[in-house]
This record gives sequence, structure tokens and C-alpha cells, in this order.
Amino acid sequence: MTTEAGANGSIPARTPAAGMLPIAVALLRLRACLKAAPPPTGRPRCAATVPAGASAAVSPPPPTPGPITTLGPLGESIGPDRPLRTTVSVSSLTCEKRRRIVNADTLSAAVAAVPREHYTDHPVHGSPPQTTAQAAIERDILRAAGEGDLTGRRILEIGTGTGYTGALLAELAGPGGTVMSVDIDARLVGRARRLHAGRNCPVRVVCGDGHDGVPDAAPFDVIIGWCAPTIVPGAWIKQVRPGGIISTPIYIAPVARAVGHLRATVTEEATLTALRLGGAAYVDMGHEVNTTLGTPLFYVDARAGESYLSVAWRGRDDDPDVALALLNAPAHVEDHPLGEEGPQRAAAWRDARAYLAARDHALGISSLTTWGSGAPGWIAGVGFSCGRHAAVLTDSGQLRADRKDSPALAELRDALTAWEGAGRPGSEQLAVMVSPGEGGWQVRVTLP
Ligand SMILES: C[S@@+](CC[C@H](N)C(=O)[O-])C[C@H]1O[C@@H](n2cnc3c(N)ncnc32)[C@H](O)[C@@H]1O
Repeated sequence: MTTEAGANGSIPARTPAAGMLPIAVALLRLRACLKAAPPPTGRPRCAATVPAGASAAVSPPPPTPGPITTLGPLGESIGPDRPLRTTVSVSSLTCEKRRRIVNADTLSAAVAAVPREHYTDHPVHGSPPQTTAQAAIERDILRAAGEGDLTGRRILEIGTGTGYTGALLAELAGPGGTVMSVDIDARLVGRARRLHAGRNCPVRVVCGDGHDGVPDAAPFDVIIGWCAPTIVPGAWIKQVRPGGIISTPIYIAPVARAVGHLRATVTEEATLTALRLGGAAYVDMGHEVNTTLGTPLFYVDARAGESYLSVAWRGRDDDPDVALALLNAPAHVEDHPLGEEGPQRAAAWRDARAYLAARDHALGISSLTTWGSGAPGWIAGVGFSCGRHAAVLTDSGQLRADRKDSPALAELRDALTAWEGAGRPGSEQLAVMVSPGEGGWQVRVTLP
């Protein structure tokens, strides 16, 4: 859904979440569940709340400390999700220098011109441990371009990885544009430099923490990220020219793996406007090289072996370890089909996850919970919990709960019924809000 701001540019007031009665019932249930807990601490201060897609400028952020805890995800970022398209000989390649608007056709042409396997599966330089899935790359380049033209743009890429995405961006930017790429992993930086050199591809690759951007090379027209920070770094906003674009995976709730994709325009006042949110799943943007790709870096509150639990109620008296144990050995499991296995089911789970995050925010209770089984299986779940009850919907289409009549399961069922009743909305249909946080802008979703 794309909703325009009012004619005077004002931000539409947020309307109450769909249906007050279900919310009242949910509140009662969760309050019962959380009766030993202190009252909710209230929502984060918001500079703006707009339906995804709406335009709304937001005030400059005073440097207030945010509630960000360290601890992060993995989703569709591993491995190509469909066969490689090209079999072009590497030795015959250079980055193509055509001018073009980025749409499905021109992106396909760029994809055909850049040999993915040169970067992901090289006979000499081998394969790196992770690469963004092809479908996610194409989707998020289209999101970044926003039906515009990347030709001649000064682009900063965050998360070089294999080098493939940088090469695609160079193809789209053409000879009048520049692509600077930063990765925190020095080995990947060296590898990407060699691979670009092998194709005369003019991407400049530097090693550093993407949170800092690349100030020496600023200003940029576009920043495109391939890993998820917990907050839109203030450094990016400083380094993008007014009117320029930030397009990045981003945390949309304070629990592990709660990631969406944000496209926003930087204003003259160094704020964000024209916020557009989409579904996504990306690795975390850590502050050092991540050697444990399967486990989240951010917001982990309990661990047992390779399993983890992440709860929006951290800091209360209840014990996350107890809730993790309940989910690791659930007394109640039932099927809750989300769709056929594969991209359709993955997208449904992502949409449900975003909706649950938005509902949790709208209720103001902070019982949102994510859970990961660890190996074998690496099953992920999202739902609600307190210290004595827990229930999640897994990405494999199951409900797991501490017991059949768990209040957490009742709340999860209510939320899923509301999601289904609303036509299974995804991130695009939710309201997105940004607020000042420590070192940048925090992004959250709520019900439209
Ligand atoms: C999923 S990979 C994607 C790379 C690239 N899009 C591709 O398809 O090859 C994410 C990359 O982000 C990098 N990364 C993680 N945290 C980072 C940070 N703080 N600064 C810069 N890069 C980071 C990782 O090292 C990894 O190479």
C-alpha cells in the first residue's frame, strides 16, 4: 500500500489498530501472563509514524540513548535460490557501460552481463561462506532504484561479500557513476578486489565497519546495504546528499531476526522522509566479523546449546531461560500451514513476523518473542512469551507452545487470525515509524 501524506505534507494521525475488542481481550490475557511484571514502559518516542510508502519528514534526532542491546539473524542471505542465468566466459567480460532506468528488464540485462559464478564460485578464489540470494538481490536493487535511474550515481554499498552485488551496481551506474563498497571482513575485501580486477570492474572496495560509512568518499547519492543494522546509522544520513536514498535491511522490532527492508530519502535537514518498508531477511550488521553465521548477533536473551530466545520484555523480573526451555521442549505442537515449502512459505512467515511485531507494538505490551532451534534444522519461530508461558509460529509452519491452553498461544492465535482476516498483510501494508536513537534512527512497525 502506498499512502500519500496530506496535501499540506502533514503526517496522517495514527488510527487505532483494527478492532478494539480483540485488542482488549489480548491485553487482558497478556496482563494475566505478565502479572508479575512491571507495567509496560511505553512506546519509544516517535518522530514520525506513517503507513509504509507515505511521505513524512521527521525532526532531527537529539542524541538520546536508545534501548539497543547487542546480540542477530540469518535468512535468505545464504546461497543462490535459483539457477545461475549466465554461462558467459569470464575472460571476455568487462562491466557494461550502458545508461538505463532500473526496471525488471534492464535489471535482467545487468544480471545477464555480470557472471554471478565469477564472484560466488571462482575456480581460483573459491566460494565465500555467504552471499545474498539472487531473488533478494534483484528485489532490493529494484527497491533501491525506486523505478528511477542509477546511471551516473555515486553509490555506497554496505556489505561487499562476494563482490557480485557491487559488480551489478557498477553495471547499473555506468561509466559516469561510482561504486564504493565496504565490508568488515578483510579477507572478503581482498577477494572482491581481485575478482573485480579480473573483469576490469571499477568498484572500489574498502575494509571497515559499514556503520561508519566511508566519509572520505562522501557524499553519495545512494547507500545500499546487504546486512541489517539495528538502527539507521547517523553517519549514513550525513554522507548521503539531500534527496539521496538509503536502502537497507533494518531491524523493525527489538528482537533477534526481526528485520525488514527500508527505503528512505534523506532531507536537507538530514532527516528521513518517503519511508517505504518491505519484507526481508538478512544477516546482522555486526561490529566485527561474524564467524557464527547461524546465530543472531543482536538481542539474544537466552541460549541453550545452539538454540536461542529473544524477548521484547528483557529487563523484567521473569527469566528468559525458562521461556527458552519451554519452547525447546514444548508440551503442545500443532501444524499451522503457511503455504508450500519454499519461497512462498518463507515470505508468509516473514509477513506474519512483521505483523506480529506491529501488533505487539500497537498493544504496547512488549511480549514479542523470537526463537531459534539451532542445529539440526535451524528452525526459527516468532510469537509471544513471558517468563512462564511461550508460543511461537515456526518458519516450517508449526505452532509450539508451553501447553495447549497457554495464554501466549491464545494471543498468538488471535494475532494470526487477525493477520489472516486482514488478508495476510506484509511489511508494505504496515505503518512504519522512525525515532531518534543512539547513533541514528530507530525503525519500528505498528498497525496502520
Ligand atoms: C549476506 S553478505 C552479502 C554480500 C553481498 N551482497 C553478496 O551477495 O555477495 C553480507 C556481508 O555483510 C558484511 N558485513 C557484516 N557486518 C558488516 C559491517 N558492520 N560492515 C560492513 N560489512 C559488514 C559481511 O561480512 C558480509 O560480507
